[in-house]
Amino acid sequence: MSDSSRTVPPELLPSEDLHPLPMPVINLGHLSLDSATRYRVVDDVAKACRDLGYFQVINHGISQSVMDCALEAASDFFKLPNETKEKFASEDLRRPVRYDTSSKDSISMSRAFLKHYAHPLSEWIQYWPQQPPIYRKYMGKYASEVRMVALQLMEAIVEGLGLGKEYLNEKFHEGSQLLSVNCYAKASQSATTIGLAPHSDYGFLTILLTSCGGLEVVDPSSNIWTRVQQLPHALHVQIGDHMEVLSNGRMKTVVHRALLNPEEARISIASIHGFALHEKVTCAKELVDEENPPKYKESSFSDFLDHLTANMDNKHRNFLESLRM
Ligand code: OGA
Ligand code: NI
Repeated sequence: MSDSSRTVPPELLPSEDLHPLPMPVINLGHLSLDSATRYRVVDDVAKACRDLGYFQVINHGISQSVMDCALEAASDFFKLPNETKEKFASEDLRRPVRYDTSSKDSISMSRAFLKHYAHPLSEWIQYWPQQPPIYRKYMGKYASEVRMVALQLMEAIVEGLGLGKEYLNEKFHEGSQLLSVNCYAKASQSATTIGLAPHSDYGFLTILLTSCGGLEVVDPSSNIWTRVQQLPHALHVQIGDHMEVLSNGRMKTVVHRALLNPEEARISIASIHGFALHEKVTCAKELVDEENPPKYKESSFSDFLDHLTANMDNKHRNFLESLRM
C-alpha cells in the first residue's frame, strides 16, 4: 500500500468537504486574435497560474472525435489480456514504454498505467503497443495535437511572467512529452476510493483528458481537496514542478490525486510537457534579484528520473522539496 500521503501535510488528507471550484476557462482560439484580445487572454492565463495553478481550455483546436478516439485506444489497450500488457512491464523508469498495475511506484493505489514518450513522435512511436491496432494511430494523433496546445500555452505563460512570448521557445519546441495513460477501476464499496495518491507532476505543464470525473486538486487558498468538474470538450491544464522553478515560485505546482468513480471505470490521459531529457531548468534570471533570490536548484527531467529511482521507498519522494535552496 502506498504511504505517499506522508509527503503531504495532514490538512491535505481526505476531506468530506468537497465542493466544485470556480474553474477559470481559457478560450485558446482568442490567443491568435488581435493583440488586445491576446493580451487579455495572456493576463487571464497568468492570473489562473498564479492564483490556482490550474484552468481549463476550450476552443483548443482538438476535435471531439480525436479526443474520443484516444480514450478509446487507451480503453481497448487496458482490456487486453494481462500477458500482452505485461510485456511492457518494467521497473526501469527510463524505458520508452512502461506498464504497471500496482503500487510499485508508491502512488498508484488502484490504477493501471501505460507511460510512454510522445515527442518526437517518429522516434518513439515504434516502441508503442501494436495492440489494439488503432493504438498508434489514434494516440499519435492526439499526442501531436495536444503538444500544439501545450506550446501555445507555454508561450502565453512565459509572456504572462513578463519574459516575452519567444522566451525559451526553442527549448520548449525541442522538449519532451510524456503520456501517462491511466485506467482506474470503478469504485467498489470495500476497497479504497483513491486511485492515485497525492503528488505533483515534474514538468512545466500537464494537460489532462479524462473519460469522467475523478480528479481532485488542492485549492491553494483554502488548502482543501477540490473536485474538478470536466467541462464539455475542455482539457484540464495544470502547472508542474518545473514551472514553479522557472517562475522562481511565482507559480506553484499543483498537488492532485485521482479518486475512483463510483459509476464507471475511468480512463485518463495526462500529457506532461518539459524540456529535453538532459536540459537543465533554472529559475529565470529575469525573475531573480536581491529581493527575490533563486529559490530552487537547477534540475533536468533526467534528474527527476534519478530522484524517483533513488526514492522508490517513497521516503523522500517529493522532487520539488529536494530542489529547494
Ligand atoms: C497523472 C495524473 C490524474 C488522473 O497521471 O500524473 O495525475 O486523473 N493523473 O488520472
Ligand atoms: Ni499527476
